[in-house]
Amino acid sequence: MDWNWSEIFSSPLWAVSTVILGLVVRVQRRARWDPRDCPVQLKGKTVIVTGSNTGIGKFVALDFARRGARVILACRSMERGTAAMQDIRRLSGNKNVHLRLLDTASLQSVRQFAEDFLREEKQLHILVNNAGASGMPRRITTDGLEVTFATNHVGPFLLTNLLLDLMKRCAPARIVNVSSVNHWKGQVHFAHFHGNNLTGGMDSSYNHTKLYNILWTKELARRLQDTGVTVNSLHPGVVKTEVMRYYHWLIRLIFSITGIFFFKSAEEGAVSTIYCAVAEETDGITGKYFDSDCSLVLPSPLARDPALAEKSFEFCERLTAKL
Ligand SMILES: *[C@@H]1O[C@H](CO)[C@@H](O)[C@H](O)[C@H]1NC(C)=O
Ligand SMILES: *[C@@H]1O[C@H](CO)[C@@H](O)[C@H](O)[C@H]1NC(C)=O
Ligand SMILES: *[C@@H]1O[C@H](CO)[C@@H](O)[C@H](O)[C@H]1NC(C)=O
Repeated sequence: MDWNWSEIFSSPLWAVSTVILGLVVRVQRRARWDPRDCPVQLKGKTVIVTGSNTGIGKFVALDFARRGARVILACRSMERGTAAMQDIRRLSGNKNVHLRLLDTASLQSVRQFAEDFLREEKQLHILVNNAGASGMPRRITTDGLEVTFATNHVGPFLLTNLLLDLMKRCAPARIVNVSSVNHWKGQVHFAHFHGNNLTGGMDSSYNHTKLYNILWTKELARRLQDTGVTVNSLHPGVVKTEVMRYYHWLIRLIFSITGIFFFKSAEEGAVSTIYCAVAEETDGITGKYFDSDCSLVLPSPLARDPALAEKSFEFCERLTAKL
């Protein structure tokens, strides 16, 4: 078929219909929960957001700073982390925003972070496991783990376990795990952790880890019953920069023209994370999975399997005890 693209793009009908559709999507989204309408204050509370030097994590940290929290940015890079800290201090007017270096791909870095944190901080009320990466070339870390599994699952798993006692003492406290709708394509195969038997594109590791994130959340919630510490996971919403790279250039071009209407900015992508972390509506809710519009939804059948959740939790416990 011989499409005349320039004619299609310049057609006023195309432009008008795009704008209308875009507005409908916007209005729909606006009808959902909005952090700006949420009066919850976090004065006197300490929060950690991992991977908060940019994107969703940065907006989540900014929201917490605006609510008056003591915000700990846990980032890999001193330079980018410091820049984010300065931005957040300036935008929120809250000087109580601090940087601590953390690379969730390295268990040694996770242990060091937790040790320093527990020595120097007195409390922890909210932990947002946001750090994660997709599209990393496969590689085995010094701990013998495939790098995406280390970064997205094993590192955050260990971090959370090391901080758990403190959180219990500070209850009510909340743990929020940023997962993804990609978990629907994830599978459980423990050889994957060491980089074995991985098939499919580089995003297959990402998809698997996002499934573990939800399983982990489920099992941890079970173990934390009656402690006042809740844990939930969520899909942050499709953020422009993440999805784009999978597509043909022509589709990317169309996205970049219409993208401002159809895709969430990182700021909007942060909303469901903030919802799980602070909203009164999620008070006491635990072990659940929320979608990008803050609705409680069912994750994939695999992610709902309690036996699998327990098995993968125990696997990660043994793994992190050994390494
Ligand atoms: C949830 O936290 C666990 C522990 O942090 C971590 O392993 C996992 O990566 C986090 N899950 C999500 C959902 O990110
Ligand atoms: C996994 O990989 C190992 C070698 O790394 C191989 O021996 C084994 O058969 C594979 N298992 C499956 C289920 O693919
Ligand atoms: C990972 O998940 C995405 C989104 O569901 C899907 O498009 C992609 O094909 C999956 N990749 C693999 C290798 O399963």
